[in-house]
Amino acid sequence: NKTIFGRDFLTLLDYSPNEIETLLKSALTIKQNKADYAEALKGKSLGMIFENASTRTRVSFEVGMTQLGGHALFLSSRDMQIGRGEPVKDTANVLSRYVDAIMIRTNSHEVVEELAEHATVPVINALTDGYHPCQAMADLLTIYEHKNTLKGLKLAYVGDGNNVAHSLLAAGAKVGMDVSIATPEGYEVNQEIFEKAKKAATETGATLVQTNDPKEAVKDADVIYTDVWASMGYEQEQEERLKQFSQFQVNTQLASFAKDDFIFLHCLPAHRGEEVAADIIDGKQSAVYDQAENRLHAQKAILLALVSNS
Ligand code: CP
Ligand code: NVA
Repeated sequence: NKTIFGRDFLTLLDYSPNEIETLLKSALTIKQNKADYAEALKGKSLGMIFENASTRTRVSFEVGMTQLGGHALFLSSRDMQIGRGEPVKDTANVLSRYVDAIMIRTNSHEVVEELAEHATVPVINALTDGYHPCQAMADLLTIYEHKNTLKGLKLAYVGDGNNVAHSLLAAGAKVGMDVSIATPEGYEVNQEIFEKAKKAATETGATLVQTNDPKEAVKDADVIYTDVWASMGYEQEQEERLKQFSQFQVNTQLASFAKDDFIFLHCLPAHRGEEVAADIIDGKQSAVYDQAENRLHAQKAILLALVSNS
């Protein structure tokens, strides 16, 4: 795709509704015709910088590159000079001389922006405190597969107002899906990001709402979504958060406010008995493993669009 080639993938807010639709369609095609793409990124390398733990992101990107005929390098920041204070700028410039794209998972979104500013190859955000755009693409793909549409649906996010919630707001804004975010007081989404998403939503008609009432958010929802209460880097707040979030568990009582045919999503890793009851995440309406699988397909589409000019 000509408008996507060579760009960074830091947040869905940087992409037009059309471009996101193109990526989703490409993901579906790649998913259904895996063999056709076996050499699509032949000879290409992806550098994957991880400052934090990961199961899905690491494996799906690495396997995705292999399936596209390319190669991925797992670069733990603990083993890299960046972890010993080498400037982000130098890391960006040097890696750009070796690899065709850089994927990074780090706490600060500003670090990813700095890396992208100096890198001469595409930089992909694989989770920051600000956004989780690759996750949101997999989420859209999963919702589309289960509901046959995106526009006009209602997604309810119940939990911490951070990275995943921000990316769901951006995703909804771009595809015309309504998003209601319910957080405890003091754990609301970043208001600057909320305003940016609202502005983007005027283009598609999506309604974006924030509330401190989980029932209000879940009312008539097609999709119920939650995430861990103590994100990476916030483990020391675990005990306090268990208290603050106690009324925000997704369980059958809360889910009874949603549409009968709601699906349940969670980016994983999940904590049964905390943000979600076992009978919801392990129940018939849970699509969490489809969602995890779709990380692979969505990211192959992203890699292909950013790295391949054909
Ligand atoms: N959902 C997600 O990003 O999972 P990992 O932390 O395992 O990569
Ligand atoms: N909000 C979570 C997402 C993990 C994929 C975190 O930041 O740890």
